[in-house]
Formats: sequence, C-alpha cells, structure tokens
Amino acid sequence: MPFCMEFSGSCRQTAPWGENFDLEKFIIKGGRKLHGEVEISGAKNSVVAIIPAVILSDEPCVLENVPNISDVSISLRILYEMGANVIFTDKNTVRIDATGIKDPIVPYEMAKHMRASYYFLGTLLGKFGRARVSMPGGCYLGDRPIDQHLKAFTALGATCTIDHGMVDIQSENLYGTQIYFDMVTVGATINTMLAAVKATGMTVIENAAKEPHIVDLANFLNSMGADITGAGTDVIKIRGVKHLKGTTYAIIPDQIEAGTFMVAAAATGGDVLIKNVIPKHLESITAKLEKIGVNVEEFDESVRISVDGPLVKTSVKTMPHPGFPTDMQPQISTLLCLAEGTSIVTEGIFDNRFRYVDELRRMGADISVDGKVAVIEGVGHLMGAPVTAPDLRAGAALVIAGLAARGVTEVEDIYHIERGYENFEEKLRGLGADIVKKSVPGAAVRKTAI
Ligand code: EPU
Repeated sequence: MPFCMEFSGSCRQTAPWGENFDLEKFIIKGGRKLHGEVEISGAKNSVVAIIPAVILSDEPCVLENVPNISDVSISLRILYEMGANVIFTDKNTVRIDATGIKDPIVPYEMAKHMRASYYFLGTLLGKFGRARVSMPGGCYLGDRPIDQHLKAFTALGATCTIDHGMVDIQSENLYGTQIYFDMVTVGATINTMLAAVKATGMTVIENAAKEPHIVDLANFLNSMGADITGAGTDVIKIRGVKHLKGTTYAIIPDQIEAGTFMVAAAATGGDVLIKNVIPKHLESITAKLEKIGVNVEEFDESVRISVDGPLVKTSVKTMPHPGFPTDMQPQISTLLCLAEGTSIVTEGIFDNRFRYVDELRRMGADISVDGKVAVIEGVGHLMGAPVTAPDLRAGAALVIAGLAARGVTEVEDIYHIERGYENFEEKLRGLGADIVKKSVPGAAVRKTAI
C-alpha cells in the first residue's frame, strides 16, 4: 500500500478509499517456527477515533505512533477532503490542522469505506452543533445498528434523522445529561465522549465500554484541555469545556496486533519477544494462552512467547474488555485447531463472526458451528490451501494457519488485513516466516466498509 508522506497540496495517496486496484495475496510456505523480536504499532481502534477527534481542537495537533494502515489513510483522507491540512513529518507522525474545516458533511463516497467513519458524527456534532455523515452500511460480522449512538446524541439535545442514507444531526445547544447504554458498546461510548466534550454541563455515561482505546481517547481529549474522568471504568464523566487546544499525543500500542503475534508465535511453536506492548491490556489473551500450554513471560513493555510442550484444549467466550476480545476470536480458534482435545469458542459480541471457519476447514480443521458457538476438535496439524480472507481479523487468523500449516497457503483478499496491520508480512518475515505478497494479475476489487 502506498504511504502518503504529505497530504497538503498535491496528495499522492491512492487506492485505500475505493478506486479499483489490483488484488493482492499472501503466499506462505508453512512450518517455520517464528523466532526473534517484533515491534507492535499504534492501535487501529484508537487512531480511528482520535483522528476525527482532532476536529474538536481550535489548534493543530500532532499524532505520534500512527500506524501505516489503510483505515488511517481513509480517516486522514476524509479530513483532507473536508479542508484539513494533513502532513506526515515522519513515517508514523502526522500533523493535522483541522481548523479549515467549515462544512460538517462526510458524504457516502468518503464514508463508505470504513465503518468507523461514524466517529465523524460525534466529533462534528461536538464542534459545529450539526453533522451529516453517511450511514454505515452492511457488515461482515452481523447486524451492527447505531441506535445507541443516536440515543446518546438525542439525550444530549440533538435531533437525529436518516435521510437518503445520510445521518443528519442538528442541535441548538448540547447539554450534559445522564446516558445509560442498553449494552456495552465501544462505538457509542466514543461517539458520546466526542459529542459531549464541549457540551454545556456534565454528561455521565453509564454502562460505558472499558476498552484500552476508550482510555486512550479520553487521555487525548484531556491533553487538549477536556475534563473527562472515569474512562476505563463503566461510568465516564465528561464536564463540557468551551475550547480545546492543540496537543502532541502518542497513540497506545495495538492490543490486537500484539495478541495476533502472540498467537502466531504459539501456533508455530516459536519463541518471540513482542515489544512496545502494554502487558496489562493483554491479560485476557495471556491467561488463555497459558491455559492452552503456551509460556508467556511479561516484562515492562514486552511479552515473550514460547512453547515447550503440547497445546491443550480450552473454552473461550468473547466479552467486552477486560474479557477476551472478539477481535482475537478467529486467531485463538485457529490455535485451538492445533491443540489436543475438544475446545469450545463462544462469540459473545457479534452475530456472525465465524465466516472464516469454512476457509479453515479447507486447511483440514475440524470445526462445527451452531449459531455463536464453535466446537473445535484438535487436528494436530493443518495443511496448506488457497483461502480467502473474509474480514480483517479472520484474515490474520488465516495467515497464522498458513504459517503453522504443512505446505503452501495462499491467502486472497488481503486488503482486509491491511486495514489494521502495519507491514504485517514484513514483520512476519523478520521473525523468519516464509511469506510474500503477490498481485493477482487482472483482478481488481472495489473495497467495502467493515
Ligand atoms: N450495538 C448495538 N447498537 C449500537 C451499537 C452497538 O446494538 O448502537 C451492538 C453491536 O451490534 C454489537 C455490540 O453492540 O453486537 C458491540 O458493538 P460495539 O459498538 O462495541 O462495536 P463497534 O464500536 O462497532 C468496535 C471495534 C471493533 C470491535 C468491537 C468490539 C472500532 C473501530 N471497532 O466496534 O473492531 O470488534 O468494538 O470490541 O473500534 C476490528 O478491529 O476488527 C473490529 C471489528
């Protein structure tokens, strides 16, 4: 994926927001144990909230540890098209001056490539008192309504309508209020924080999501002068402020990228030091890996994964943080294919997050799925096969399967993986994996959002 070093003036960014482009695939010769050290990048799910949040600032902001992934390119492109000045000062540092944005509209053509573009609703509402953003479309993971986002905006005093596929939000004034979410939702918690940060008075979010990226967004907003307390617990209090200033802020390391490398190391029987992580964010993943028989050594900012015995069955249920993350479900399920015995994996967040199972079966996995429960019979080893990534995390899981499998695996539709993993194959090659990226001649795709 090309990387845009300079957005202002002539923009050299190309494919990520949906022009037709060549399809690419990974070709993996499996069976090599991963060894060495790998550095984890900034968190996707933080940065896709923090980039729109810059609009709230009355001054330019500098973001550090920004991962080079296509969801970042899309978010920055949206800002740029709206009138912001966006300049990369090095590969992972971007200076954004969003003070030139005057029109709070994100049309379908820009928003459709990334579900998280709905964060522009909260941030534009918070800044301008109105927002018009394309409604997020269908999703590979099942039904993903935004009713809780709209409920929160309405509680703050806005009027929300949906018209020709656009969410239209208007308010005379936003007033702090108490909001209780019907379920734990990351997206609605973030959108409420963005909308309420400049509202008049105090907003209290109850049953708030507690994911690390919620805390990261609160820290970012507080560094601009916001008054947010309680992020990381299930009650977040936001006292509205009049102005937010510029800041320089480093994005936290990606919990899910770290977890993915932890599982990749375990699946290949390797020995890998995973650097630039916050071990506390990895606790639920570490606990499950240890149950499976993987050694996990924790250091201040790194974890070492090694395997010196058999992998054994376990049960996993995905839950909101601090539970086991749904974004690690396909990866851990892949590992459990290689463990002795029968494992049960229950998806507790999304309706349809087992679409990769058919692909794993093509590699010799023995998995049966009934609704949100998968029963995985350990098969000892997987066999290389051509497979297709159905979404981001499932794509990463298929790469892990290919690394562990006997023979050659080709993973197609890797644009899903590039939404959320910076230099995935280069990092894996650095650990000794035999993985290359190849274009599929003549094939082109138009990307859709997830
Ligand atoms: N939900 C509703 N109504 C709402 C909002 C959510 O019914 O208004 C439901 C959803 O349908 C889902 C559950 O509540 O069943 C949780 O959804 P949540 O809002 O927490 O998810 P999200 O904000 O849409 C974020 C991540 C996902 C991650 C989930 C769960 C971002 C940009 N996306 O999605 O990340 O799986 O939280 O942790 O932060 C990924 O990175 O691969 C990914 C899909």
